[in-house]
Amino acid sequence: MRVIPVDKIKPGMVVERAIIGSTGEILLNRGMQIDVRYIQRLKDIGIPLIYVRDDNIGKVEYDEVVSNRTRLEALKVSRDVVTNLRLRSDFDIRRVNKVVDDIISELVASRDLLVALIDMRAVNDEGFYHSVNTMVLSVITGLAMGFNDKQLRQLACGALFHDIGVIMLPPGLLKKQTPLSPEENEQILKHPELGFQILRKKEGVSLLSAHVALQHHEKYDGSGYPRGLVGDQICEYARIVAIAAIYDNFVGLGSEKQLVLPHQAIQYLIKYSGIWFDPEILKVFVGIIAVFPIGSVVLLNSGVQALVTRANKKYPSRPVVRVFKNRMGARVAPPFEIDLEANPEYFIQKIVVEEP
Ligand SMILES: [Fe+2]
Repeated sequence: MRVIPVDKIKPGMVVERAIIGSTGEILLNRGMQIDVRYIQRLKDIGIPLIYVRDDNIGKVEYDEVVSNRTRLEALKVSRDVVTNLRLRSDFDIRRVNKVVDDIISELVASRDLLVALIDMRAVNDEGFYHSVNTMVLSVITGLAMGFNDKQLRQLACGALFHDIGVIMLPPGLLKKQTPLSPEENEQILKHPELGFQILRKKEGVSLLSAHVALQHHEKYDGSGYPRGLVGDQICEYARIVAIAAIYDNFVGLGSEKQLVLPHQAIQYLIKYSGIWFDPEILKVFVGIIAVFPIGSVVLLNSGVQALVTRANKKYPSRPVVRVFKNRMGARVAPPFEIDLEANPEYFIQKIVVEEP
């Protein structure tokens, strides 16, 4: 298994990791053989890369942090909540709580949680994919911070609905290509308050979750909105969600032309440690993201190319890799593994995603 950019896909390749659409449908399932039609479809919806089988390199074991079944359900639930609210009708909080509980149970059951796969999403995401991802990343951070079950649920609900106020804005405003007028800007700045109003009144939603919607654009140094709160004045959940949401937005910006990899997004976040983000929480967050994702191709200092096969939570820059090309670029047969933690003379120089 390995990651390849969509423009390098050839008909006949086999999908190794399912691709999920933004509203809870499977676009390409694991084991499907790709034909010309699929390649065009992937390009049309703007998926930048996919995981394919590679018999020369061999099998790689990997786990989705959340099962596809639960992720699909979470996407459907988010879509239904938004549809109901747009129609000015109520939504079923029990369905939301059920999927939140399922996600938390799955995450609690995994040991050594690490986000070790590259995210794949369509550019036409209407926000559902982003909301679900923000929730998953926030819960993993909460787990690493030692949160109990009740705290995890409140955090998860707040994270899932952090941008719910956006549905009250005029349709199309966020996607507008032309510069916004001062009035339009003003309207966008209101979405935290609008989201808070929706959640605050909703029975079964904790007031703390509602505060995530209200405060997710506050910044650690007080330069955020709506109130310009500083440091600990911002509730802890909102400080977590601010990091998770911006990270997810950043990797979601990736396109076929310009891919944003986890380590690049992390570098960006670190630049704003203590400015936008709580430095202590950011440290925890950085620890849950594998900087060298499983399935990516890396160049070692010895000049060989290798595939990352196992992430290393303790020493993120020292995963287990499988060498498959020698320094001259010829295939190594059979490929062999190096555990970078046990072999300090080797290190990763860079990720080479573009290599076919
Ligand atoms: Fe927002």
